[in-house]
Amino acid sequence: MILIGFMGCGKTTIAHELGTQLNKEIIDLDAVIPTIAGKTIPEIFDAEGEAAFREYEFQALQTTLKKDVIIATGGGVVTYEKSYNLLKDLTGRPVFFLNAPFEELYSRIQQDENRPLGNQDIDKVQTLYNSRLDKYVSLADSEISTMQTVEKTAAEIIGYMDRVNFKA
Ligand code: S3P
Repeated sequence: MILIGFMGCGKTTIAHELGTQLNKEIIDLDAVIPTIAGKTIPEIFDAEGEAAFREYEFQALQTTLKKDVIIATGGGVVTYEKSYNLLKDLTGRPVFFLNAPFEELYSRIQQDENRPLGNQDIDKVQTLYNSRLDKYVSLADSEISTMQTVEKTAAEIIGYMDRVNFKA
């Protein structure tokens, strides 16, 4: 399964919980990208810019989709057409859009220097969120609120998969 959603929605945390409950490996694309680029995420943004970051992210997504693992994506993966199309064309693999009210997402990502695009004025981040919302919705099999405990969020995802007979 693939988890998408804005920064701070809980993709990494929920992926770990699902991995434990389903006894399945998880891969966080934000952890793969530095191994491809040889730099941290802030260093990529500083030295090469967002466009280069999106291409590394696409490569990480493409490689990781070949594996039978739970994937936590980065919040901006949907903004790059090549990555968006890869996710759009998936068959038999559920995509979950994790979401929470914008103010909550913004408060969760404050003070985090590892997110160059989250580390900006609230208006800019809100604009970013608004511009991505349709894309998350259009890719998702189901939208799940993370305004509940990690355990309940994971249980909702697993319940959905059982109902529609999806495999993790
Ligand atoms: C980004 C989100 C980050 C990371 C990078 C860019 C974005 O991932 O990929 O800083 O454009 O929203 P998280 O959503 O895991 O914070």
